[in-house]
Parts: sequence; C-alpha cells; structure tokens
Amino acid sequence: GTARIAVTGLATMGSNLARNLARHGYRVAVHNRTSARTTALIEQHGQEGDFVAAETMPELVAALAKPRQIIIMVKAGQPTDAVIDELVDLLEPGDMVIDGGNAQFADTRRREAALRERGLHFVGAGISGGEEGALNGPSIMPGGSKESYAHLGPVLESIAAKVDGQPCCVHVGPDGAGHFVKMVHNGIEYADMQLIAEAYDLLRRAGGLKPAEIAEVFRGWNSGDLESYLVEITAEVLGHVDAATGQPFVDVVADQAEQKGTGRWTVQEALELGIPVTGIAEAVFARALSGHVDQRVAVRDRLPGDVPSTVAVDGLVDDVRHALYASKVVAYAQGFDQIRAASQTYGWNIDLGAMATIWRGGCIIRARFLDRIREAYDGNPELPSLLVNDYFADAVEQAQQAWRRVVSTAVQAGVPVPGFSSALAYYDGLRSERLPAALVQGLRDFFGAHTYRRVDREGSFHTLWGADRSEIEA
Ligand code: 6PG
Repeated sequence: GTARIAVTGLATMGSNLARNLARHGYRVAVHNRTSARTTALIEQHGQEGDFVAAETMPELVAALAKPRQIIIMVKAGQPTDAVIDELVDLLEPGDMVIDGGNAQFADTRRREAALRERGLHFVGAGISGGEEGALNGPSIMPGGSKESYAHLGPVLESIAAKVDGQPCCVHVGPDGAGHFVKMVHNGIEYADMQLIAEAYDLLRRAGGLKPAEIAEVFRGWNSGDLESYLVEITAEVLGHVDAATGQPFVDVVADQAEQKGTGRWTVQEALELGIPVTGIAEAVFARALSGHVDQRVAVRDRLPGDVPSTVAVDGLVDDVRHALYASKVVAYAQGFDQIRAASQTYGWNIDLGAMATIWRGGCIIRARFLDRIREAYDGNPELPSLLVNDYFADAVEQAQQAWRRVVSTAVQAGVPVPGFSSALAYYDGLRSERLPAALVQGLRDFFGAHTYRRVDREGSFHTLWGADRSEIEA
C-alpha cells in the first residue's frame, strides 16, 4: 500500500482527524465498522485531500505503506480492545497502533505491553480540542516508545495546533504517559469549569447580575490574565438567549452536570498517588451533587439557608476575578504535582514545562497563563510547587485579600463555592508552619498504638495512654 497513515472509527473526532491529516498532504486510509460513515466522509470531504476508503480491516491494513501507522478513534474501553484484537493479527513487527481516544492510562499500559510482546508499537495519544481542534489543530499528547515517535512525531506535529510557531505536540513519555497527561488535562478542565461556574453563581446570586451582564464581565476578563478558551466561551454561553422561550439559555438547561469519567479517573489516581488535587475532586463531587436530583428535591425544603437576602458586594466583580485567578493557579499547581508524582512512580521522565507548552493551543484548557507555567517549569524543573514561582507567588499574594473576601461573602450568602474555598484551604494548608496533623497522629496513637514521630528526636514513639502515659520507643 501507499497510504502514509490510517484512521479507523469515523465518528466526528475520527473523521475530522482524518480530514486534518489529508489536508496536510498525507494519503490517509479510512475505515469504519459500518461503511456508511466511510462513504459519507468521502462524499462530503473527499476533495479535501488524498483518501483511500477501506471497507474491511484487512483492506485498511493493505492500503498502508510500511511500517504501518493506524489511528484508532473509537469509544474508550471494550470497543478499543475489540479493534486492537482485530488488528494485531494483520500487522507485522514495527507497525504502530495509535489510540487517540480518552483511554484510561492503565489500559494503555496493558495494551502497550501486550503489543510490544508481538513486536508492535502501541501509542496511547491524548488528543484534546473537541471536534474543532481535531479538524483545525488539536493539542496532542502521545506516549509510547521513542522509536514510534520518530516515525509518528512529524505527522502529529504537522497536524497539531501551533503557538508561536511551535507545535502543540510532544513525546510525553513511555507507555501510558500520554494518556495520563490527557487525563490530568481533563481533570484540570473540570476544575477550571467548576471555578468559572462558581464565579458566575456568586455574581448572579450574591451580586444580583443578570446572565447577559455576567457574559460581559467574562468578556472583559478574557482580555486580561484570565484570557483562555473556557472564559471566552463562558461569555458566549451566558450571553446566549434560548430561541424557543426568550429566556437566558443558562436558565433553560437542566442543572445536572454529566461526566464521562476522565475527571473521576484523575481523582482516583490522585488518591492512589497521595496527591491532593482538591480542585479537581471538588469539581467531580459538585457534578455528582448536581446530578442527584431526587435527593436535592427531597431535602431542599428542610434545609433552610438562614442567610440575609442581600450581602455587601462592593467590588465583588473584581474580587471574584482575583479569586478565580488564584483558585485556578492552585488547580494547575495540583495537576502538575500529580503529573510529576506519576512520572516518578512510573518512570516516565515527563518534562512539565513541555506539557504546559503543548497545552497553550488546541486544547480545551488553552490559556494565556500557560506561557507563564512553561516559563516557571523551564526555569526550575524541580519547583516544589507552581505556587512558589515568583510570577504566581506575586499574583496569588495580590489576589489574596480579595480571595478571602469572596469566600466569606459566599459563605454568608449561602452560595456554595467548593472550588474557591478548597483552593484557599489548600493554600493556607501549604503555608502553615504547624498543621493539626500532629493531633491526628496523637489520636491514632491513642486508639490504635499507631505510633508517631517527634519534632525533637529521631525514631518512632508510642505513649502508654492507659497506664502512666510514659513514652516508649516503638
Ligand atoms: C478535550 C475534552 C474531551 C471531552 C471530555 C469531556 O480535551 O477535547 O476534554 O476529551 O470533551 O471528555 O468530558 P466529560 O464528558 O467527562 O465532561
């Protein structure tokens, strides 16, 4: 065969990715389980480039030049395994199978090991940017072997988004590293959206602003430090009026957030690694709370707020901007901590500055301040937290009073701000000289002889709580 690369799975993301490849001059073999989608793609977009339509998997494989490169764009989980099973017997050592879906990184590690045994390369590649990104330039986070990236990198880099001429695609690290980083990207996306939602809620319920007015506030914020894709589209969504009812769109949408799983996985994995990603966790739980509609309806009347009908909101808009920014810095700091911890645990050697670089364009969390994050980690890869990089430390210091006012205003007004308040609690936790964990250790020792360490001597100790309270070295 002569095709440079193949795509199987031609739902929106798959066909847009195939079109993006074709538009960049690659001969692309395309395949879908039901061939109607393949036909539709060729009919509607065949003139955009050089496509080879394949009806069956053997045809797809035969259409490719060697070593073969096949991108799988199907649902994560079992459907991905089914396609891989079908493919492996048709391939030869040196061929590359690329999974462009939102796979769980442990699945990617398992698949990579299984294919490696057969001499095949398996590349778990995170792809972000939705339909539009897939077509016009996504952010791409490929894992897998260095060898596979030597073949695949130039292709992926050419179709990725570009910022300052640099492609938003880099080899993240071996096996599941790419999908791990994509997972954390999505976790940060959850946290970012939750913080934006809290900002909106406060401006509306405590500040008394209308959705259209809040849309303007966000539009203004988008020309400052908060400039980002999510802030930009928040202005669009809040400004939208429902055609059928003439109501603000945001008032006709059911207030039950859904999720496909990547945010939950980020938190599950963070729990395993012991990294406090409180911003992401609060976002996942806030979605869960919103979704328990029966419970909300059943308890609502019995849970009065006992809050004043108005609160002092002088300067609220600007305070909320500061709180949003500071909380966002915390969420990113936590996400990068998680990537670093996983990189150490799994031996991935991930370059944090490079991750910030490839998130500057194409992806959902693209934002102006990722440039600053890149500078922070490039300047000091060992940075103990993004929060102590001079730029962010100064920004958070400046935001701090406003941030505290916003959290207390929200508490007084009875508006839930789990994202803002947990971010602040994290910040206060990190900067505290003494934490009450000392008391927790004492309690553990009291009821379970779990032992504790002392501030003044090496070793681990146990106090004989039931007897004379003397101390013994454990
Ligand atoms: C992206 C998005 C994409 C998808 C999320 C949505 O980077 O392009 O993150 O992957 O929109 O999976 O996730 P939820 O459905 O869980 O909100």
